[in-house]
Amino acid sequence: MNRKKYYIETYGCQMNVYDSELVENQLIKTGYKQTNSIESADLIFLNTCAIREKAEETVHNRLTSLAYLKKRNPNLIIGVLGCMAQNLKDDLLKDKPYVDVILGPDSYRRIPEIITNRNKELNNIVDTKLSKYEIYNDLFPSRKEGVNAWISIMRGCDKFCTFCIVPFTRGRERSRSIESVIEEVKHAVEDGFVEITLLGQNVNSYRTSDGSFSCLLEKVAQVEGVKRIRYTSPHPQDFDENLLEVMSRYDNICNYIHLPLQSGSNSILKKMNRTYSKEEFIDLVAKIRDYIPGCSISTDVIVGFPGETDADFQDTLDMMKKIKFNFAYMFKYSSRPGTKAAEYDNQLPEDIKQNRLEQLIELQSSITLENNIEKINSVQYILIEKESKKSNNYWSGRTDGNTWTIVKKNKENVKEVIPVKIIDAKGVTLFGEALTKKELLYETN
Ligand code: 5AD
Ligand code: SF4
Repeated sequence: MNRKKYYIETYGCQMNVYDSELVENQLIKTGYKQTNSIESADLIFLNTCAIREKAEETVHNRLTSLAYLKKRNPNLIIGVLGCMAQNLKDDLLKDKPYVDVILGPDSYRRIPEIITNRNKELNNIVDTKLSKYEIYNDLFPSRKEGVNAWISIMRGCDKFCTFCIVPFTRGRERSRSIESVIEEVKHAVEDGFVEITLLGQNVNSYRTSDGSFSCLLEKVAQVEGVKRIRYTSPHPQDFDENLLEVMSRYDNICNYIHLPLQSGSNSILKKMNRTYSKEEFIDLVAKIRDYIPGCSISTDVIVGFPGETDADFQDTLDMMKKIKFNFAYMFKYSSRPGTKAAEYDNQLPEDIKQNRLEQLIELQSSITLENNIEKINSVQYILIEKESKKSNNYWSGRTDGNTWTIVKKNKENVKEVIPVKIIDAKGVTLFGEALTKKELLYETN
């Protein structure tokens, strides 16, 4: 039988990457096979992101550019999944009537039934109901070969930061059972994955009757064959010492924490409903560095939140200088209709936001480089992930602290963790030389 072909494009965060893998599994179960050629697909799904206006624009443009395929093949199924589906279903139906299927993040279980029906009748199918319970405990993802497996452990967010659309698009927090996460970790290891990244909008809000996030993390660390574990993102408010204690006890849990700051000004943090002050954040970072010396910390920062004054922005710059994050993801505030902050007075003009973003990026680039230069002459353990894009004589891999490192090839293989002496740092990247056992002994004595 000639199997129908699907093509999926994924936008936005790692949760979406994971969800696309779940969706692929559903499609394969329905009798479809994957194609990398959009032109030859019988079904095209875009798994979308609504976090900032730009992400939405990208998807709108992409959909517009797909209209010709639908004209050419009226039987083609085009679907919009994920956060934009949830958020913009009415606009999509009005402007892009050729979109056949609109599914929110809690509706993927229905894919086989929806596609089968869609082949019989021609109405649009929309399901964006959010569920208090859907956690896809029993639907495993279809993963391609690789080094790192993303595993979602909880869904949704109850924090309601005033700038953020996620609590509306992804609904309430729910946690997967420890048992089901561990089963998936074991599957991933059997399939050859050596690094596990646990995912959730708020991983440390993870709660089950069998234990909290630190308990889950410890159990994952004990699964044989897991060389490295990372997780993203925790919320500073829910960070407890148990978690740091578990991290400090297991070598395979990376010494790396992504800790979103968002702003360095107390008045803005309050308006953002972040529920911590800059002083509390500083204390938390000190505690992290106390438990895990040399722990790498990255962050997210938003500039140009409504009402952010020059002094507020200066507070953010000062915090960045004080904390010296290893790296940072920096964004201009983007107003999201439906969120509280979108209703605030004093929305800032684009040029101020742009100017602040540029200042922040310049500062953080120098801090990142400074942190990386400090690593020169140290020994870092690199998990080899792939050939370097620049040259096939070099490997590309990450340090325990999540910094990309380029290493000259010897006789190593992908998925090996090797000791590397760092010899140079440029921008966000480190450069190093693999050490033999003898050299390692010499370097570490
Ligand atoms: N505008 C800009 N950045 C945002 N983020 C979330 N919502 C917005 C918004 N409306 C950023 C936050 C969050 C990251 C995933 O995206 O910094 O931590
Ligand atoms: Fe959005 Fe805040 Fe929830 Fe993160 S914690 S997903 S920024 S509402």
